[in-house]
Amino acid sequence: MMSIDYLALDEKLDPEEYVICEYTVKSDLDIETAGKRIAEEESTGTWTHPTTLSDDIFKNYGAKVTEAEGNRVRIGYPVIDFSGEIGGIPQILSIIAGNLFGLDTLEGVRLVKLELPKTIVDGYPGPQLGLKGLRKVLDRPEKPLVGTIVKPKIGLPPKEFADYVYESGKGGLTNSKDDETLVDQDFCPLEDRVNEVSERLDLLEEEGHIMIHAHNISTNGHEILEAADLALDNGARQLMVDVLTVGFSGLQALAEDESIDVPIHVHRAMHAAITKNPDHGISMPVIGTLVRLAGGDALHTGTYGVGKMHAEITEEIESKEVLTEKMHGLKKIMPVSSGGLHPGLVPDLIEMSGTDVQIQAGGGVSGHPDGVKAGAKALVQAVDAAFEGIDITEYAEDHEELKKALEKWM
Ligand code: 3PG
Repeated sequence: MMSIDYLALDEKLDPEEYVICEYTVKSDLDIETAGKRIAEEESTGTWTHPTTLSDDIFKNYGAKVTEAEGNRVRIGYPVIDFSGEIGGIPQILSIIAGNLFGLDTLEGVRLVKLELPKTIVDGYPGPQLGLKGLRKVLDRPEKPLVGTIVKPKIGLPPKEFADYVYESGKGGLTNSKDDETLVDQDFCPLEDRVNEVSERLDLLEEEGHIMIHAHNISTNGHEILEAADLALDNGARQLMVDVLTVGFSGLQALAEDESIDVPIHVHRAMHAAITKNPDHGISMPVIGTLVRLAGGDALHTGTYGVGKMHAEITEEIESKEVLTEKMHGLKKIMPVSSGGLHPGLVPDLIEMSGTDVQIQAGGGVSGHPDGVKAGAKALVQAVDAAFEGIDITEYAEDHEELKKALEKWM
């Protein structure tokens, strides 16, 4: 076994010279040793001391444990380990989140924070429109964006699908989107769906309402740019990617393509397989950091425990922060709250999310007793009430749609 003393604890790493990762570790090993095992495995070491490992190689390319306390360890990976023209986010992940998860001596290890130096960030596109750009497209400078996910998530043919979008726009929604499982199925091909939806969005605009719809183009790497072209040629105003099933590189390819000038909505389907175990995996804030790097303009970050999906509130707050705090000049991304929402949950949600958020409800719009348009109106009314600081029940007294929604779901 390689001597772990070979790696020295160094507390003074230059954040411009290292990619710094914070991990929590569950192990019988003491935290410093566990950290050194990770640093070795992910840079110049292995299970034994390679005779080919020179002092120079270790010094220049070896990862360093910079802090180790409690169950937390911070590890700095030299920027040179990430250099070269090719590699990108796949390479970043192979280093900072690769073999380490399988090390038998570590019962659990979780990558909880990722800090990237400017030299690395500068090599990525980042969001092309971002939070502000999205607000500009919708001419909605301050209020939360209000959206729906067309339901049922599969099964509607293009015309009925587009009718749903139109109805929700008539109810005042700013956004709608495909669900994560809908792409190009025979019952609702992408081209026909985009065509129909674009027609309805144009009609809404003629009638004085601006709305965009995110079309899911998640597909194989070699097809995604073609799928984007198909959607844009048919009038798409927004694209959507399931970033974890497609991969960050697919998102980056879209963000880097100069012909794509619409915002990219990023869904995180499958994230819980990676993020849910508190002792193991990768935290949502790290995924958020990578989505921002790769160029997403809006990302699902959770509903702060009020919706249907499992929530770890501290991480959801951190996720919002990594999308909106300073990141070496990258634009901010719009956090999206979605999953099991309905109008009655909006006040609690906005209290935690703030107003820079896109609130979305599928069932909470389409399940309204009076249908999609009424459901959309109720959601908009709930957001308006919360934005104005008016109690939702009071507001519902003279807002019929909201009243009915609260009666059904509260
Ligand atoms: C999503 O894409 O976030 C979900 O499909 C939300 O659907 P729901 O609002 O009906 O829970």
